[in-house]
Amino acid sequence: MMIEIAGLFDVAGVARLRTIIDAGVWIDGNATSGPQAALAKRNEQLSAGCPAAREAGDLVLEALGRTPLFVAASLPAKVFPPLFNRYAAGQAFGTHIDNAVRMMRGTDLRLRSDISETLFLADPDEYDGGELIVEDSYGTQSVKLPAGHMIVYPASNLHRVAPVTRGTRVASFFWIQSMVRDGEARRHLFELDQAVQTLAAEKGNDDRTVIQLTGLYHNLLRRWAEV
Ligand code: NI
Repeated sequence: MMIEIAGLFDVAGVARLRTIIDAGVWIDGNATSGPQAALAKRNEQLSAGCPAAREAGDLVLEALGRTPLFVAASLPAKVFPPLFNRYAAGQAFGTHIDNAVRMMRGTDLRLRSDISETLFLADPDEYDGGELIVEDSYGTQSVKLPAGHMIVYPASNLHRVAPVTRGTRVASFFWIQSMVRDGEARRHLFELDQAVQTLAAEKGNDDRTVIQLTGLYHNLLRRWAEV
């Protein structure tokens, strides 16, 4: 299930993030790669320990917390602190799979990466190429979103970033461990949640059927959630 979350940041919010990260410490992107991914990866990454990364990462986490669509789609148990990268002048990230378990150096944070997220921080007209290309059983999806928009997709899919041939692609990326490990179960819950919200908008939150379906949602979540 791939879900686009539009407008996580508005124009001013993107500008603020860009100002913060531009002043940070940028290093070779292979700092967070496994050995196989490292062969394929050519980009720069904001040093995870620098104050700019923490400040910008906190802004991303705050934005996620006030975005019901993100919460409904991800059902987050743990969120890896957001990382930031940029690609320019032919840089790319070849086909790879994200590591199943992520650890953060110097902390006891350890999470299973169920879901990958890419938050675009440059507008499509600022660069050519740089599409996020995700392979799934329905075919290949090519994603290039306006600045401030985010794509949520299963971490279990092979993916790549196409070479950037003009300008600079700037993004934040991170992983989620979901309370619901199984992607199909997560998709059922998301679809039920969206349908109940549509029904509630028509009939009101005190409608008996809305209450029954809300009960079904929570009973399925109770059955599947690990907290
Ligand atoms: Ni990746």
